[in-house]
Amino acid sequence: MTQENQTTAAVVAIERAGDHVGQTVAIRGWLYNLRESGKLLFPIFRDGTGVLQGVVSLKEHPDAFAALKGLPQESSVAVTGKIQAELRAPGGCEIHVSAIEVVQRVADSDPYPIQLKEHGVDFLLDKRHLWIRTPRQASILRIRADAIRAARNFMDDQGYTLTDAPIFTPAACEGTTTLFEVNYIDDQKAYLTQSGQLYVEATAAALGKVYTFGPTFRAEKSKTRRHLTEFWMLEPEAAYLHLEDMIELGEGLVSAMVQSVVKSRKRELATLGRDVSKLENIKPPFPRITYDEAVQVLQKAGNPTKWGDDFGGDEETLISKNFDKPVVIHRYPAAMKAFYMEADPKNPNLALSFDMIAPEGGGEIIGGGERQSSYETLVKRLREHNLPEQAFQWYLDLRRYGSVPHAGFGLGLERTVAWICGTEHIREVIPFPRMLYRVYP
Ligand code: 4AD
Ligand code: MG
Repeated sequence: MTQENQTTAAVVAIERAGDHVGQTVAIRGWLYNLRESGKLLFPIFRDGTGVLQGVVSLKEHPDAFAALKGLPQESSVAVTGKIQAELRAPGGCEIHVSAIEVVQRVADSDPYPIQLKEHGVDFLLDKRHLWIRTPRQASILRIRADAIRAARNFMDDQGYTLTDAPIFTPAACEGTTTLFEVNYIDDQKAYLTQSGQLYVEATAAALGKVYTFGPTFRAEKSKTRRHLTEFWMLEPEAAYLHLEDMIELGEGLVSAMVQSVVKSRKRELATLGRDVSKLENIKPPFPRITYDEAVQVLQKAGNPTKWGDDFGGDEETLISKNFDKPVVIHRYPAAMKAFYMEADPKNPNLALSFDMIAPEGGGEIIGGGERQSSYETLVKRLREHNLPEQAFQWYLDLRRYGSVPHAGFGLGLERTVAWICGTEHIREVIPFPRMLYRVYP
């Protein structure tokens, strides 16, 4: 190990290395790749914020050369060197290494399992704890974090108060077929929440404009590219607001998330090869069509959907092809929607509901609408849906004591981030995906 500048050089993040051209700095990270060419070594380092290409010369820095030569992939290293502009390199610079401290050397007999070649997705999912180190996966997770930050900031700026909903719940919110049952203390039954909605309806009556943002669970038996069994949902709810207000809020929220990522995560979007011009275009207002119009669009395109049918992933993709922004579909048939929906006063067969469908085949990213505010109708609906009235007594209290019109929606974080990233499957946009037959690692 050579000591030149080792103790004095300031530690910099790779994403900021370009600000230090001409300076000697320290990078702390891992060896992502190593190419050897006679008396020169060409390592690529990563530190979680990006990758940085390096050069080590045997002649100039024999100790650093010896430390790096043959070093296995993913060994952890602290590197000292001078940052130099190099337009062809990722990030526009490279490091001329003068010293290397190997923090942990990966054993030659037990090489890092993910090589820089194509692996099957099942293998990668088994190694998800390591897969997230690759630049593509790390970029996705940074974009996810930025989208979350932007979403929270937007909601807070709109005057919504964060009120967290519980995860153990006594009853279903979104139908009983996808409930995860939990053996709660002393053999009481509880269920993992499918949606925080019923609870934000309560906090909205207490605080006015609220939201919850947390994990939600559905025992989805279907194996699609858009379903997880554990996913994150942001759910606003507001007293005295209506369907139109929520559509507008949803447009603003989605636009804020997309524009924040476009602005703050350029490098990551480039790593993903994402067409940023498509994202730059995502600004309100979004196109709006009724459910009736959506059925016509589908039928014109030769799809067999009839009035009253729900839309599957294929139908959503077909509809979204007509738009370059997310499209809002509103006023679905009441019969196919959840028990809590308010009916359209102009046509009680329709629910005051809306879905937002992302472009480029991103699928449904938002579902929501106006809530049933009448005590009598809600009791009737609970019975029609065979839901246990006893478990909903607290919820019925919200209609007994000062019921008001109110509305809200749920934005699926992973669906939204998958669309922003342009990933085919949403399993890549959550650090540790939970799916049908997968709870490892
Ligand atoms: O449309 P959903 O089922 O609506 C609700 O749960 C309402 N209670 C929300 C509310 O009004 N507060 O789910 C909302 C969104 C969907 O649009 C979708 O983006 C996402 O949650 N979602 C899923 N994402 C990943 N995997 C799954 N299994 C999902 N199910 C729903
Ligand atoms: Mg839905």
